[in-house]
Amino acid sequence: MSQTKRQILVTSALPYANGHIHLGHLVEYIQTDIWVRFQKMRGHECYYVCADDTHGTPVMLRAEQEGISPDELIARMQDAHLADFEAFHIAFDNYYSTNSEENRELALGMFGKLREAGLIVKRETEHYYDPERKMFLPDRYIKGECPKCHAQDQYGDGCEVCGATYSTTDLINPRSAVSGARPERRKTEHFFFRLNECAAFLQDWMRNGRDGHGSPLQAEMLHKLQEWFETGLMDWEVSRDAPYFGFEIPGAPGKYLYVWLDAPVGYMASFKNLCTRKDIDFDAWWNPHSETELYHFIGKDILNFHALFWPATLHFSGYRTPDRICVHGFLTVNGQKMSKSRGTFIMARTYLQHLPPEYLRYYFAAKLNDRVEDIDLNLEDFMARVNSNLVGKYINIASRSAGFISKRFEGRLCSELPNEEIVLLGKLQAAADEIADLYENRRFSEAIRRIMALADMANEFINETRPWEVAKQEGGEQRLHELCTANINMFRLLTLYLKPVLPQLAAKVEDFLNIEPLDWSSSKNLLLDHLINRYQHLAKRIEQKQIDAMLADSRQTMQADKDAQSPARHADRQQHAHPPIAETIGIDDFARIDLRVARIVEARPVEGADKLLQLTLDIGGETRNVFAGIKSAYTPEQLQGRLTVMVANLAPRKMRFGVSEGMVLAAGPGGKELFILEPDQGAQPGMKIK
Ligand code: 2FM
Ligand code: ZN
Repeated sequence: MSQTKRQILVTSALPYANGHIHLGHLVEYIQTDIWVRFQKMRGHECYYVCADDTHGTPVMLRAEQEGISPDELIARMQDAHLADFEAFHIAFDNYYSTNSEENRELALGMFGKLREAGLIVKRETEHYYDPERKMFLPDRYIKGECPKCHAQDQYGDGCEVCGATYSTTDLINPRSAVSGARPERRKTEHFFFRLNECAAFLQDWMRNGRDGHGSPLQAEMLHKLQEWFETGLMDWEVSRDAPYFGFEIPGAPGKYLYVWLDAPVGYMASFKNLCTRKDIDFDAWWNPHSETELYHFIGKDILNFHALFWPATLHFSGYRTPDRICVHGFLTVNGQKMSKSRGTFIMARTYLQHLPPEYLRYYFAAKLNDRVEDIDLNLEDFMARVNSNLVGKYINIASRSAGFISKRFEGRLCSELPNEEIVLLGKLQAAADEIADLYENRRFSEAIRRIMALADMANEFINETRPWEVAKQEGGEQRLHELCTANINMFRLLTLYLKPVLPQLAAKVEDFLNIEPLDWSSSKNLLLDHLINRYQHLAKRIEQKQIDAMLADSRQTMQADKDAQSPARHADRQQHAHPPIAETIGIDDFARIDLRVARIVEARPVEGADKLLQLTLDIGGETRNVFAGIKSAYTPEQLQGRLTVMVANLAPRKMRFGVSEGMVLAAGPGGKELFILEPDQGAQPGMKIK
């Protein structure tokens, strides 16, 4: 399939400079990197740019806490980010910083043009102010009591305990998370972007795309935008008061551009920096009628910035708009939100200490598609897929044939193949367009399925033709040569198709095969009469202990990270010595737990057990034998005859002393501080707790 050479500029969201890269971030960088590598293999002129997102209050405060300048902090974080990206083979053409001269010039230039166009106006507004720290506070820095459930220490936008959402002004007893002072409401003047004025343009762009090339959005995202339009577009506050780490607005002393205004401009600034280095014509890529393509890969949480503010900012300041906003969902681990206590909040660096980066790339590719669904890293499935598909099906093809080529044919592939093998290889070659189409449309999971189906076909061929037996047959030399040559060629084609996902492995294969870097058109030829190198081991299976060690390490890293939190956070933790609230569960999860009122008919010590008491519980006509770890807090006499609450549908557990048929509920950290739950008067054994 011949096609014209495209010019494509691709971005991933800019990571904040106040935190390290974790596996959640990597979904996006891996997705984008695969897509970009694929485009480059197709021969297109494709650039992948990114940068650190440096401005805003969090970076300013973190630098202050660490006793360093923001510049020092962002330089250090940039090094750390780059090291992580490089390790995962994320190959940016340029990685820059939003705190750059290019970005200042572009962002302030755009701000100026929007102002001239009457789209930015100044007006008075009101914000929280920390009188002790002498600064305006973003809502995120106000904490207080939830107006609904009265949980302490909740953020201004919603309660993590009861799930209520409200506005910061509703918080009871609000205080500054920076100094602990009671914040005041103070008037201040700010610049506002009149987004609603851009509604007609945005409607057209989101439905018809740039120059009518089609919607830049996935259907579900287009739908989401429609909803926002229905509720009405609000003015967007685009400045912040000093002290603020960012770009000061000329002619408005003490007023800074809001980080979200200059962050996406960081895409352009990074590209501009690349243009200077590589002599690329920046204007040709950014003028409104540019024939080049612009793709942004983002997570679903920042759709509004990329599909409303960003195209409006670009269009009304005289630049081209994006052709596509490729939105992905969030990462869950083992079906749940990443959790620090379970060790599933995995930092890139922690992963790298235990497992090869390309295994994660492979797994994400095997799960990613063009929709906005969340993707799950199920660690059991991860190990199974890598071991059985990547190592078992794909790598094995080479390892089963390469030795014969080296030992029996001095490393040379044969110069001709019989028709049967040509036909078989033809099937693999013919899949190139279909697989390309899947990559192009970000249907990576289908591409991987298709490639693995080809690997299955290759393995079937090998199992049927049994080169290891042919090797033992007298006169089987030529057939062995043909079979191994065919197998190596199948391996080469599979490598080509997997190359966007597994670039390092592909480079090793290219070395082994002694060939130039594979590109998409390499699928058209076969490797015949060619000298290959000795096969070196390419990939190892994952062992369960690597995953266990990664989780344990992660738990520990996260704990250490928590201990190193800011003084303000320490104070929070001391006020609340209780463990943090666990992950949210649905009402259905809760309904599965059958809690019953139980009478403790009998309580007795258990011989040989320091902490246990054996309880006989009456739950209304049925008795249960339960071993409860409450001996440190109660004598048997204190319990006999009392009512309590038990989990009645917990699977029976075989213990050293007998079978425990449920669990009694108690609160507290342990030792003497353990308190069994007791229902109010009138409750009867067997009553269900709802
Ligand atoms: O959400 C984030 O992590 C932001 N730092 C993304 C910025 S993307 C772009 F707009 F700059
Ligand atoms: Zn609440």
